[in-house]
Amino acid sequence: MKPTDLRGILRYVPMFRDHVFIIAVDGSIVSHENFTNIVTDIAVLRSLSIKVILVHGIGYQLVSLAGEHNVPLSDVQGEGITDAATMSLAREASALVSQTVLEHLSQAGLRCAITNAVRATNLGVIKGKNHLFTGKVEKVDVAILKSMLAQDILPLVTPIVCDREGQSLRVNSDHLAMELAAAMGASKLIYLTPFSGLQINGQVRVNLPEDELKKILADKSIILDPRIRSKAVQAAKALDENVPRAHILDGRVFGGLLTEIFDKVGLGTMIHANDYDQIRQAKKKDAQALYNLAKHGAKTDALVLRTRQQIEQSISEFFVYEIDDSIIGCAALKPYPDGKTMEVCAVYVQPFYHGRGVGKKLVEYAKLKAKESGAKKLVALTTQTQGFFQSACGFVSGSLHDLSAARRKELKVSGRNSQVLQFPLRKLKDAVR
Ligand SMILES: CC(C)(COP(=O)(O)OP(=O)(O)OC[C@H]1O[C@@H](n2cnc3c(N)ncnc32)[C@H](O)[C@@H]1OP(=O)(O)O)[C@@H](O)C(=O)NCCC(=O)NCCS
Repeated sequence: MKPTDLRGILRYVPMFRDHVFIIAVDGSIVSHENFTNIVTDIAVLRSLSIKVILVHGIGYQLVSLAGEHNVPLSDVQGEGITDAATMSLAREASALVSQTVLEHLSQAGLRCAITNAVRATNLGVIKGKNHLFTGKVEKVDVAILKSMLAQDILPLVTPIVCDREGQSLRVNSDHLAMELAAAMGASKLIYLTPFSGLQINGQVRVNLPEDELKKILADKSIILDPRIRSKAVQAAKALDENVPRAHILDGRVFGGLLTEIFDKVGLGTMIHANDYDQIRQAKKKDAQALYNLAKHGAKTDALVLRTRQQIEQSISEFFVYEIDDSIIGCAALKPYPDGKTMEVCAVYVQPFYHGRGVGKKLVEYAKLKAKESGAKKLVALTTQTQGFFQSACGFVSGSLHDLSAARRKELKVSGRNSQVLQFPLRKLKDAVR
């Protein structure tokens, strides 16, 4: 590892400090030789103050035990009907896998504990079929998990979960991990699988927005292995529950977990929330609201005063940030005649919403849109927010030559003495994993 790699990783350290990651490991991965390395990677995460909860599956061991005992399984993945014989083997498989995980965690010097922090309930009768010992998550005891994490204890959650009466039920581990991620407000839900990620037409999708994943899941012409589909379905549910990132990756690859988290390209599939959901193109009817925002910005001389008519005429250049149907911020993208440069201007966020990342999102969105329309450079003129553009948004100093001739003239006439900043769009990074 080069010192420069470390610098790359360090930028994520404050970003993830004290965040909760739910890591779900398939039974086959626990049995794989790379599991020792995964546990070392988990130890690295812990040393960076990332709080990890581990969930394991048992499908692989269950099939193997069924073979040894010559018992036909009613279901392997914990989603169908679990009969008494399958349940008995599932308990055995779970004990085996849990013990193996404990052994590895102990070897890595990690404090851990198997917990009954999750309560299950019977899946019951679905389409006339009694699912017997198959369960689903009813409740997560967040307090006990938090107190374990606060004491540096890694909770290990097994897919054999007790119901209110203390009866054991078999719960699908993908579902279990999703419920834990939602309840714990996790930053990441990570599935370690024997697959290289979510493959569509033979290609692993590296970054997948939530919307696209949902379209893929609804498209009957796309055939997915049922085990991958199960993780993808649960990942989509996790994002619906405000978990910002879900990852599906190959647990057999050395260093895969750290690569996925700390490398901007990653290793498997990262499913992410639609970051720019609250931003939309401005419409004519928004002109008054935009005029009001511009007026406030002009009061402190941060923005140039624009008339309502000027805003209406250039409405197609504006985009707005909405919360609960009310516009709380805006920005505009102006194309230059050279076809290679765009200017982001009129960036304004209502003071009440300052410091919540809205301004940065507007500028990041402008970068994305400018790049999409083929621009190579994004410029900004500022009188008071040089720090915001440079430190938070990565702009560097530019010069009057970066402006179009018309903008240079306007600037001279206005006497505003604004600073010119620029962002080379080739530097636009992939979504942060
Ligand atoms: C500048 C402005 C758009 C920032 O909006 P915001 O939603 O408060 O900004 P964010 O919450 O996205 O801030 C992102 C980061 O920039 C920093 N930041 C915000 N304003 C800053 C400023 N004026 N100078 C330096 N840094 C600033 C924040 O502290 C934050 O840092 P962090 O990521 O380390 O926490 C907002 O203050 C505003 O509307 N100002 C008046 C209009 C204006 O000056 N527009 C720019 C002219 S084009």
